[in-house]
Amino acid sequence: MLCYLVPTVSLDPLRPDPGAIRRAARLLLDGGIVAFPTETVYGLGAHALDAAAVRRVFAAKGRPAFNPLIVHVADAAAARAVVAEWPPKAELLSAAFWPGPLTLVLRRGPTVPDEVTAGLDTVAVRVPGHPVALALLREVGVPVAAPSANPFARLSPTTAGHVERGLGEAADLILDAGATPVGIESTVVDLTREPPVILRPGAVTAAELERVVGPLAASPQPGGPPRSGGEGRDGLASPGLLERHYAPRAELRLFGAEEGGAAADAARVAAREGRTVGGLLLRALEAPIRHVVPMPQKPAAYARLLYSALHGLDDAGCDLVLVEAPPESPEWAGVLDRLRRAARRPDE
Ligand code: TXA
Ligand code: MG
Repeated sequence: MLCYLVPTVSLDPLRPDPGAIRRAARLLLDGGIVAFPTETVYGLGAHALDAAAVRRVFAAKGRPAFNPLIVHVADAAAARAVVAEWPPKAELLSAAFWPGPLTLVLRRGPTVPDEVTAGLDTVAVRVPGHPVALALLREVGVPVAAPSANPFARLSPTTAGHVERGLGEAADLILDAGATPVGIESTVVDLTREPPVILRPGAVTAAELERVVGPLAASPQPGGPPRSGGEGRDGLASPGLLERHYAPRAELRLFGAEEGGAAADAARVAAREGRTVGGLLLRALEAPIRHVVPMPQKPAAYARLLYSALHGLDDAGCDLVLVEAPPESPEWAGVLDRLRRAARRPDE
């Protein structure tokens, strides 16, 4: 059952109504919170230079204050206004990938409040590619800090319905432009280090980035040991990296292509215990899986479906979700990263 507690405005994703965009922009300028679509996932936006508004976003999500937010801006010129340095690699990457699903971590400029950056001396910026996000950013004329519009550590929202059900009345307005086309969060690249480091894999792949700026350093692995030395207050390259993140309510178990037999056994045991079993499968599996979602064989199509499939299995009351792992290849890095995080237990 959907029950819309929060004003929701339906928009044409390609040609959003200017009146609705003006209303959303006014709310942001008044310190309000607006959920809006980007090409990756829905964001929960606040005026980035208004510390009180930003604190409301943290409170709404239940997000720890040490995890900084991404600042969204309308173009590269606006990005330069929130950073202290704009190195040549920022120029190259922004020209190649903005507007689009790439976030750049740069030295922070003096106008950005501590609330946004969690006290770090860096700030993450991106120009999103969704026409609704761009229209809003152009209209509002200030940077907008926005995390994904989900409760902390839960699945990111790819529809306005996910936002509504996850965050209830936290937003003052939800802009609904249907499902987001990319489906997983932006690639985050730290340009304050040389060579640059991918902090979070996403739709823009390492190979695509390297074609523009040359070699990148290896990414920290989710669940791997913290990196040492000079990476920020807590010694973490990206404070959000070590959390169990993007997780459905159900227990999620990843299995490799050659582990189909073990996965089928797990499904049988769970079904016998009365647990409802779901599956995200790349191939047919002979097992008592009540809710099977056949997943696409290509990474972009898989990413687009991933969160909505997991939201759907949660809504269907699944207790256990068996996920056939996609191949260990670079173009699957973003999807594999999200699946591994979702499979980690809270105490890991
Ligand atoms: O696609 C996206 O990036 C979406 C849409 C809404 O733009 N946003 C998003 O935001 O995923 P959030 O807050 O869920 O994730 C931001 C990530 C976190 O892992 C955070 O730790 C990292 O970016 N981050 C933000 N500022 C940072 C900084 N100064 N240094 C290192 N990592 C940073
Ligand atoms: Mg998030």
